[in-house]
Amino acid sequence: MEIAEFEERRRFVEQACGDDEELKERLRELIDNYFRAGSFLESPAAGFANTIDLTVSPEGPGTMVGPYKLLQQIGEGGMGTVYMAEQTQPVQRKVALKLMRSGLDSRQVLARFEAERQALALMDHPNIAKVLDAGSTSTEPGRDSGRPYFVMELVKGVPITRYCDEHRLSPRERLELFVPVCQAVQHAHQKGIIHRDLKPTNVLVCLYDDKPVPKVIDFGLAKAAGVKLTDRTLFTEFGSIVGTLEYMSPEQAQLNQLDIDTRSDIYSLGVLLYELLTGTTPLRRERFQDTAVLEVLRQIREDEPQRPSVRLSTSKALPSVAANRGLQPGELSGLIRGEIDWIVMKALEKDRNRRYETANELALDVERFLGNELVQACPPSAWYRLYKFGRRNRGAVLAGCLLLLALLAGIAGTTAGLLQARASAKAERLALVEARAKQKLAEDAIAAEEARFALARRLADEMIQIAEDETAEGRGQDRKSVV
Ligand SMILES: Nc1ncnc2c1ncn2[C@@H]1O[C@H](COP(=O)(O)OP(=O)(O)OP(=O)(O)O)[C@@H](O)[C@H]1O
Ligand SMILES: [Mg+2]
Repeated sequence: MEIAEFEERRRFVEQACGDDEELKERLRELIDNYFRAGSFLESPAAGFANTIDLTVSPEGPGTMVGPYKLLQQIGEGGMGTVYMAEQTQPVQRKVALKLMRSGLDSRQVLARFEAERQALALMDHPNIAKVLDAGSTSTEPGRDSGRPYFVMELVKGVPITRYCDEHRLSPRERLELFVPVCQAVQHAHQKGIIHRDLKPTNVLVCLYDDKPVPKVIDFGLAKAAGVKLTDRTLFTEFGSIVGTLEYMSPEQAQLNQLDIDTRSDIYSLGVLLYELLTGTTPLRRERFQDTAVLEVLRQIREDEPQRPSVRLSTSKALPSVAANRGLQPGELSGLIRGEIDWIVMKALEKDRNRRYETANELALDVERFLGNELVQACPPSAWYRLYKFGRRNRGAVLAGCLLLLALLAGIAGTTAGLLQARASAKAERLALVEARAKQKLAEDAIAAEEARFALARRLADEMIQIAEDETAEGRGQDRKSVV
């Protein structure tokens, strides 16, 4: 729909559908109907040219809208048309001007914008495109009744998903680009602003010094426009806005949408991350095509999406999705399985109490993954912690293991030496005791021998004495024979 030239549009359809003639035919028919319906509403009916002319939108390149001169149309969304415009007063610069579609009560829109203006003015972040001004087109008689418009910083960039695919960014580079998006959303939340409509066309990537910088646009506009996403969808069911449904949080998919808070943006960030990694949104675009809007809303509220790695491994488009990320198919799903699955699924929890509480927590978890640290999105087991520690400090762990081995070897060596020394000391002690015992035995034997000898000698002496006495008395034998 964004391609203005008929021929160019045909070429695009030819290319996009490949050999599928049936799809080609269906698309052509749809596109023709779309443009026919547009011209039917815009072109004057016969005989009523003057009357109908008043309803034709007078804006286009060259028109002044307030102090802004429209230069060229740069985009069209569900809420209106975006132009590049020139501001001359009080400064000369180029800006983006979003002219809201007719049918909105511009007084109410501007009143809501005024209420948000102070908070919007306080937002100051390198990844947020500032909303500079708002107003309403001329309400002169004979003109289109005043349509609200918003003036924003002009971002020379393309939607983040397109940028990543065109530059074949790897999953890691995509995650790195996603972190500042979360930080921008966190900044806005701290200033009290909820985006409510985060999606790739509202996150543009531009180059500063050849470095890609994401910029979140349209902050505060969904609130000021005051149109519920569901209503916008119902309104233009066959137009481009159908895309918005895929990024809508379960609580936004309620028909009353009374209770929206910052966690709604966390969900949309989860969808964005899912798409950046897998190339598809959790609830598939194709499933919405032939489904009644109320059924789609029920699916958003209730149907659990597949984990990103499961979506990838079951997708027929896996080879091309992986090639867009500079990887082999198996590598891509293997890389996403586990922690990235957990991170994305935590952001996509249906129950917002179970989501990341802040955009910053989501950013920190992505950064933890990138730094090989423990991610918080899952209860880590002891083995998981050990595994992560090992991966994070591969060098240190290797050195530690070697040191431990050396230490164990050292301890084993010393212990063996000690045991041996102890054993030989004991053997020496035993030998000493044995020697001492033997010596004592020998000494005792000598002493006993000596005692026996002394006794024998005494006996002999006594016998000699008796013999001598008897000899002296002249009885008995002589001394010689006694001895
Ligand atoms: N500030 C901007 N600077 C540069 N281009 C912009 C800017 N705002 C919007 N655009 C371009 O205009 C296109 C349409 O933007 P628009 O916001 O109208 O539609 P959308 O984001 O698809 O839907 P929604 O109405 O929900 O925001 C964007 O995809 C982008 O290319
Ligand atoms: Mg937008």
